[in-house]
Amino acid sequence: MVILFGGEKGGTGKTTLATNLAAFLATQNLDVLLLDIDPQGSAATWANLRWRYSLRPQIPCAQANGDVAQAIWQHNRKHPYIVVDAGGGNTAELQSALRAADVFCMPIKPSQLDLWTVQRMDELRAQTLGVNADLETCAVLSMVPADPKLNEAGHAVTALQDFPGIQVAPVLIQDRKAYRDAARAGKSVAEIGDPRAAREILRLASFLFGVE
Ligand SMILES: Nc1ncnc2c1ncn2[C@@H]1O[C@H](COP(=O)(O)OP(=O)(O)O)[C@@H](O)[C@H]1O
Ligand SMILES: [Mg+2]
Repeated sequence: MVILFGGEKGGTGKTTLATNLAAFLATQNLDVLLLDIDPQGSAATWANLRWRYSLRPQIPCAQANGDVAQAIWQHNRKHPYIVVDAGGGNTAELQSALRAADVFCMPIKPSQLDLWTVQRMDELRAQTLGVNADLETCAVLSMVPADPKLNEAGHAVTALQDFPGIQVAPVLIQDRKAYRDAARAGKSVAEIGDPRAAREILRLASFLFGVE
């Protein structure tokens, strides 16, 4: 199972969700590899911190660029779960990774500026179906402001209904300091002991992988 985090924009939570999901799967004793295809290398830095601090479980991590589909297929022979972290933008790496992905997951901040970028990613999704007919695409609302009165997430869910090829994940990832604190420590939100954030990741994992 290859899950790819990508999207037009930077700073939407791709690396945050990729690292937390990889940690979740590893904690379930599932054999997961985190594949960083963003030249910024943040996911690799996170995995490296775990290694340096001897955090368990260790999470195997690799980096790739260019025609990353080949690298994904190769790693997938050894590791049944691959979590791919792409950089922001319609990059060559993203296009290549889409050929090898089972699920394309786009974190999106619930703001109009971010929603305007979905159209291009939806076009890329549709083009990819020509070479990867089974690709499933979902959007996950990320960094959702805590104040429910604003209902920004509700507006975003409504706007995303314009894209029937993109399923909206039935979980909101809220804006929580725990996600930033965990990243700094090379940890997941479960490992730093934030139960509400950990529940969000658990629910996202159940949606994406059907694991409990
Ligand atoms: N749900 C969240 N709540 C609070 N901060 C977050 C959340 N998700 C991401 N961040 C922070 O926002 C910044 C961008 O997130 P990141 O995962 O690096 O995005 P991307 O990989 O899409 O560029 C980072 O500083 C990260 O710690
Ligand atoms: Mg990133």
